[in-house]
Amino acid sequence: MKYDGKINLLLLLIGYCLLTSLISSGDSSLEYDYYRESCPQSLHVIRSTLRRIYDRNSTVAPAILRLVFHDCFVQGCDASVLLDRTVFMGSEKDTLPNQSLKAFDHIDLIKSELENVCPGVVSCADLLVVAARESVVLAGGPYYPVHTGRKDSDHSYPEISYELPSPLDDLPTTIARFASRGFTEKETVTLLGAHSTGMIHCKFFERRLYKFGGTDQPDPSMDPEFAELLRSVCNNNQTQAHSSSAAPSASPSASPSSPTTGSSSKTGEERSMKMDYEGRGSSFGILYYQGLLQGKGIMFVDQQLTAGEETANWVRQYASDVSMFHRDFAQVMMKLSSIQVLTGQNGEVRTNCREVTSSLW
Ligand code: HEM
Ligand SMILES: *[C@@H]1O[C@H](CO)[C@@H](O)[C@H](O)[C@H]1NC(C)=O
Ligand SMILES: *[C@@H]1O[C@H](CO)[C@@H](O)[C@H](O)[C@H]1NC(C)=O
Ligand SMILES: *[C@@H]1O[C@H](CO)[C@@H](O)[C@H](O)[C@H]1NC(C)=O
Repeated sequence: MKYDGKINLLLLLIGYCLLTSLISSGDSSLEYDYYRESCPQSLHVIRSTLRRIYDRNSTVAPAILRLVFHDCFVQGCDASVLLDRTVFMGSEKDTLPNQSLKAFDHIDLIKSELENVCPGVVSCADLLVVAARESVVLAGGPYYPVHTGRKDSDHSYPEISYELPSPLDDLPTTIARFASRGFTEKETVTLLGAHSTGMIHCKFFERRLYKFGGTDQPDPSMDPEFAELLRSVCNNNQTQAHSSSAAPSASPSASPSSPTTGSSSKTGEERSMKMDYEGRGSSFGILYYQGLLQGKGIMFVDQQLTAGEETANWVRQYASDVSMFHRDFAQVMMKLSSIQVLTGQNGEVRTNCREVTSSLW
C-alpha cells in the first residue's frame, strides 16, 4: 500500500513532466511580441504590405498559407523553404513535393519593406508565420495569435522535403506522416481544412477521373457528377474556358459550372481550378468538410479523411459546426507555426530571404 502510493505519485510526476514538455515543446522560447523594442512596427509592416499585395492579387493569401506548411513541416519553421539553390547547397524549391509553390516574390517585397524600417532585425521565419496568419484571416478563416522570435536556418533541406505528404497518399500514410510531426488524427483533419482556399492543378487529381488504381473506372469514392465536373475542367480539348485572371477567393460567385481558371490554350496538366469552387459565400471550412461527406474531395488524400472512423467523425463534426472548426484550426495553426523553431543564439536573421546571410563574406 505504502509503495503503491509512492509509485503512483512518481508516475503522476513523470506524467506531469511529459505533459508540460509536450505542451510547451517548440514554443517555449518564442515570445509574445518579440520585436516590441527592436522593431515595434514589424507586425504592422507585414500586415499592411500583405494587404496591399492582396488587393491587387488575392492568390497571395492561399499561396503563403501553403508556404508556411511546407516550411514548418520540413525541419521546422526556419524559412528554409525560401532559400534559393546555390553552387554549394540544393534548394527545397527544386524538389518534387514543392509542387508549384509560389509567392516568393511577394515574400521578398514584404521583407524589403521590413528592411527599410528595421534592417537585419525581423527573421524571414517570423515574417512567414505572421503573413500566413494574416492570409488565413483574409481567406475568411479565424484570427490566431502567433508568438515571435524565430531565427532563420543557414540551410535548406531538400532531402527532408520528400517527407511531405503526397496528394495520392492513403489515410494510414497521411496519419503517419502527420504523427511524425506531432499531430494527432484530429489535428490532421483540422489542418487539411486549409484546402478550403486556393487553387489546385489538374495533375494532382486527374488520375482519379479516369482509370483509377489500375482499373477501368474513376475513383469509386468520388461522386460521379463531381467527377464529370472535374473532367470538364481538366479536359485538354475542351473549348469553353475562362480567363486566367480569376483569383481564388475574389470572384463573387463562381457557379459550379465555371470553376476553371485555365485558359483554352493550356493543356490538362497546366489547368487548375479553385478549391472553393462554389464561391466565397461558403464560410472557410464548411464547403471542404461538407464536400468530403458528399464524395467531393478533390484530391485522393482529402477524400481519404472519410475512410477512417475517427477522421470521418471529425469531418462530420466540422461539416456541421464551423465555429468549432475555426477554434480548432486556430489552435492547430499555432502549433504548426512553432514546430522545431530556432531561437536565441541558434540560426540567424537573413537580410534576403532567398540566401543565407552568415556565409557571405
Ligand atoms: C496531406 C497533406 C497535404 C497534401 C498532400 C497537400 C497537397 C496540396 C496540393 C497538391 C496542392 C495544389 C497545388 C497546386 O496545384 O498548385 C495544395 C494546395 C494548397 N495547400 Fe495543401 N496539401 C496538404 C496539406 C496542407 C496543409 C496542412 C496546408 C496548410 C495548413 C495546406 C495548404 C494549402 C493551400 C492554402 C493550398 C492552395 C495553394 C494556392 O492556391 O496557391 N495544405 N496542397
Ligand atoms: C519545383 O521542383 C521542380 C522539379 O524539381 C522544379 O522544376 C521547379 O522549378 C520547382 N519549383 C519552384 C517554385 O522552385
Ligand atoms: C499573383 O500572385 C501569385 C502568387 O504569388 C503569382 O503566382 C501570380 O503570378 C500573380 N499574378 C499576377 C497577375 O501578378
Ligand atoms: C478529346 O479528344 C479525344 C481524342 O483526342 C477524344 O477521344 C475525346 O472524346 C475528346 N473529348 C471531348 C470532350 O471532346
